[in-house]
Amino acid sequence: MTTKHIACIGAGYVGGPTMAVIAMKCPQYRVTVADTNTSRIAAWLTDALPIYEPGLLEVVQAARGRNLFFTTDIAGAIREAEIIFVSVNTPTKTFGDGAGKAADLQYWEKVAREILREARTDKIVIEKSTLPVKTAQIMETILNAEGGRLHFEVISNPEFLAEGTAVRDLLHPNRVLIGSRETTRGLIARQEIVDIYANWVPAGRIVTSNVWSAELSKLVANAFLAQRISSINSISALCEKTDANIREVAHAVGMDERIGNRFLNASVGFGGSCFKKDILNLVYICESYGLSEIARYWEAVLTMNEYQEQRFVRTMIREMFNTMVGKRIALFGFAFKADTSDTRESPAIYVGRKLLEEKAVVVITDPRALENARLDFAGVDGRIHFAEDPYDAARGAHAVALLTEWELYRSLSWEDIYQSMEKPAFVFDGRNILDHKRLHEIGFNVYPLGAPPLTHFHDRGARRGGSSGY
Ligand SMILES: NC(=O)c1ccc[n+]([C@@H]2O[C@H](COP(=O)([O-])OP(=O)(O)OC[C@H]3O[C@@H](n4cnc5c(N)ncnc54)[C@H](O)[C@@H]3O)[C@@H](O)[C@H]2O)c1
Repeated sequence: MTTKHIACIGAGYVGGPTMAVIAMKCPQYRVTVADTNTSRIAAWLTDALPIYEPGLLEVVQAARGRNLFFTTDIAGAIREAEIIFVSVNTPTKTFGDGAGKAADLQYWEKVAREILREARTDKIVIEKSTLPVKTAQIMETILNAEGGRLHFEVISNPEFLAEGTAVRDLLHPNRVLIGSRETTRGLIARQEIVDIYANWVPAGRIVTSNVWSAELSKLVANAFLAQRISSINSISALCEKTDANIREVAHAVGMDERIGNRFLNASVGFGGSCFKKDILNLVYICESYGLSEIARYWEAVLTMNEYQEQRFVRTMIREMFNTMVGKRIALFGFAFKADTSDTRESPAIYVGRKLLEEKAVVVITDPRALENARLDFAGVDGRIHFAEDPYDAARGAHAVALLTEWELYRSLSWEDIYQSMEKPAFVFDGRNILDHKRLHEIGFNVYPLGAPPLTHFHDRGARRGGSSGY
């Protein structure tokens, strides 16, 4: 059997794990992951991988050096491969037309031009990055700029993995989506990609479609997931006004099988590199097709997320007697979710910045994301500190704000933490994962989301009613 060569341009959170799993499951393919970022590539070649994902190191070790390779030689990787996945970043545009909404396609376009420049044989080019619907058309235009010297078939194969569970999601995907042109050559290319996944994914979970449906489905899936979080968060605010309890409401609502119980946990808000940018992108696309009502509808998901983040900090300030000046606040968790080191768009960044604006002293602790947290606050003055150990972070603090749902925070000795803190001691549970009753019994003033606070203040009602206008 001849070995097929796969290249992946972009060795990030998607390119790295995706290709590692393909290589592990398909020894008959030679997989080369290429990136311009030399330190990232160097880290993929060690056991200190550039990203943290449970189980990833074992997968990489199983294939690295056998049929999985990492390189900065982009041109070489393109030339050797018959199949090229493109998994570069597609952030929100920060300049010019569409700034703040449209996808910035400069990295994608650069890769397309590089493929055209380096290719000596026909290629299947796969959109692994999340892209606006109709991007494949642009790619085809660029790739065919030399008048059909070679044939490039563009396929959309969006990635649905979630950070923190990337390896599990890749090994056991609930679906793999492969979209192509419905021409003879398009269908042949589609089958080539189906054949890769068929090595470990059951046939019923490999879904094929036209290329535009595949591109759009990824944006819509992320919009729906984010919408659920914003929906439950919106109701958490109502619960706090009405003495209903969001956990009880979510449980009752989620038992309806048509609704389901996943993604119904109220929180300080969603983060991550994708939800916000993909919704902004969807909004921009709707606007560009004149669908302003649809754009406003999806934009509200983001408005609600910002509201929830703001509301969280405002509650902290109000309940801590309307001043944070000089108060030490421990942020438990900085990653945008548990089991990842990724802090992109993490609500903790917003919370940290706001507290610094209020002249608080902020101490960040996180089991995996401290390095990224330091980068997020690079250049900030001496009122920000970092602690590996949550007990160190909490010592002398006036409040703990729990911002990432790391399992370890449930099993800490909250008695010891309470003893080491300034009194009155506050806990603001931005993920609603702690045992609030127990914390209250220890002595904390506890602020869950979407439920009445459990405090030791007798004038709570009067003080809340007379707050500073938030
Ligand atoms: N992170 C996720 O959970 C996730 C999930 C599904 C889809 N996606 C999508 O996948 C894409 C990649 O996301 P990510 O999180 O892996 O991004 P990332 O920033 O972690 O990785 C992208 C990599 O591409 C490299 N790159 C950029 N331009 C390049 C070029 N011209 N040549 C070679 N390398 C280049 C960068 O150096 C970087 O290492 C995005 O479109 C994202 O929306 C991400």
